[in-house]
Amino acid sequence: MASPTIYSVPEISCEHCVAAITTALSDVAGVASVVVDLEGKSVAVDGGSVVAVIDAIDQAGFDATRTRSAAIAEQQLDDGVVRVTRWTFPPGSETGPHVHQYDYVVVPVTNGDLTIETSDGESSVVPIELGVSYQRGKGVAHNVANDGQATVAFVEVELLDS
Ligand code: NI
Repeated sequence: MASPTIYSVPEISCEHCVAAITTALSDVAGVASVVVDLEGKSVAVDGGSVVAVIDAIDQAGFDATRTRSAAIAEQQLDDGVVRVTRWTFPPGSETGPHVHQYDYVVVPVTNGDLTIETSDGESSVVPIELGVSYQRGKGVAHNVANDGQATVAFVEVELLDS
């Protein structure tokens, strides 16, 4: 089984909260286990969709956000003209917010869905398709995340003369 998804719930303050959240999540379809960390103010959940889990915690009266890990960046090439980096996104990972300094081409090496968050708070889910490349211009500012259940990866080619 995949590792549990971690949700940050800053308002957890007592055993009462722990019980309320545990009860709320017991009704969510697909949830196999719930461990509430009172000290860490977080909840580890096995199974269930991210949206349904956050919804259930919201209904119980708490704000929940999914805590993501760092996506894995492996630089493959940098010859001063192009810089090639393979990005691997395990479930629940993200690049972190960044601004692109160069024009770039993305070559997906898996199928999958990426969550794109822009600096103005907009979030959208964008499908990528193995081998179907796309290009973006420098100045793009966003956070790229994988909120799905499967690993997603692409190769990024930055054009350093751009
Ligand atoms: Ni980017």
